This record gives sequence, C-alpha cells and structure tokens, in this order.
Amino acid sequence: MSEQGLSIGVMASGVGSNLQAIIDACAEGRVRGQVVLVISDKPQSGALDRARRHGIPTVHLDPKAFDSRESFDTECASQLSKYKVDLVVLAGYMRIVTTALIHPFEHRIINVHPSLLPAFPGMNAARQALQAGAKVAGCTVHFVDETLDQGPIIAQAAVSVSEDETETSLGDKIHSEEHRILPEAIRLFGLGRLQVDGRRVRILKEPQGIPR
Ligand code: GRF
Repeated sequence: MSEQGLSIGVMASGVGSNLQAIIDACAEGRVRGQVVLVISDKPQSGALDRARRHGIPTVHLDPKAFDSRESFDTECASQLSKYKVDLVVLAGYMRIVTTALIHPFEHRIINVHPSLLPAFPGMNAARQALQAGAKVAGCTVHFVDETLDQGPIIAQAAVSVSEDETETSLGDKIHSEEHRILPEAIRLFGLGRLQVDGRRVRILKEPQGIPR
C-alpha cells in the first residue's frame, strides 16, 4: 500500500452508484485511499462516466474481442496490476470472473451482491427474494472465490420487506444499504482488519496487514 493509502480498482457494468459511494468515501476520508482505475465491459456504463468526471483512468474492454473468459480476465488482471491495485472491487460487475482474475488477487477481490447470501445468488436477487416470500432481504459484501456469490462474507445489511413491496422499491432499499456497507468493508480491508479463516472473515480489533 502506498503513502496515499489503498489503491482501489473497480470493475463495473452498470450505472455505478456503488462506485460513486466508494469515490465519496475516499474523498471524505472514510476510506484512506483512492480509486485508481475503473474497468467496464460495457462502453455505455454510467460507471465509466462517473470515473471520467472524477479524473479517474478508465478502461473499456469488449468481451467479444477476446476468445475466452480467461483471456478477457487475464487482460483485466494485467490492467489492474499496471495500476498497482491493492484491492479489486466488483461493484455491479455483471460477468462471472475466472481464476485468471481471482488467483492474482486472491483475498484482494471483493463483490457486492443484492441479497443476504447464501440466499439468492445469481441474477435478479431482489426478485428472487420477493418470489420466495422473504420478509427480510438485504445485501452482502464478500471475498470473491471460484464459487458464484459464495465466497467468505465480510459484511451484510438487512432490510425488511413491506406488504406492498415491489421489485423496484426493494431494489432501492437494498441499493442504499450497499452504499453504506461496501465502503465500510473497504475501510476495514484498508486497515488490515479482515482475516480470512476458511469460510469466515474475522473482523479484527487490531490490524494484521493486507493480504499480498
Ligand atoms: C448492485 O445492486 C449490485 O449489488 C449488483 O448490481 C447493482 C449495481 O448497482 N451486483 P450500481 O451500478 O453500483 O448502481
């Protein structure tokens, strides 16, 4: 980690409100660090616009230009390494990542998912929660491993499902909790307070250093 704190690389496909929450947390000093690179697989991603507005370097990579998921991820890993990223954050990144990205960043890559994992992994998590009749929904920040949305859990927040809840209203509630717990997870990572112990992540009182 440099003198300026954590160098964060963000990968995003969508509107980028979680990216914005990270940028704001860095600007306000809640996270000691900065977003040094934003990668998107979507040229029109709002995340790329937000990054440009904040003077953050951006890279758009077109998956169709690569012959496999692995070669695409190898290029992502190489871009992230070029910018000396300490932590990779998948913030609304809609592609499944492979070992080509996971291995170089083991225990240094996290994802935010709009459900209380291990319930409702995969797409349309808010819809899944509603269809299942859940009374409580929420979001999870977890380390990324080779499983889909099942890596060690760092932080979660719950929201209650009201009687007249719609997929949109539930999605909005979950989104605002994501904006709170994702920067908090990054803050704890930056302080070296996350220790991965099998499937559990222990939040230490004292720093133990950042995984390398
Ligand atoms: C978030 O709900 C995230 O959990 C999911 O995609 C959404 C991205 O939102 N994976 P945004 O682009 O950060 O606004």
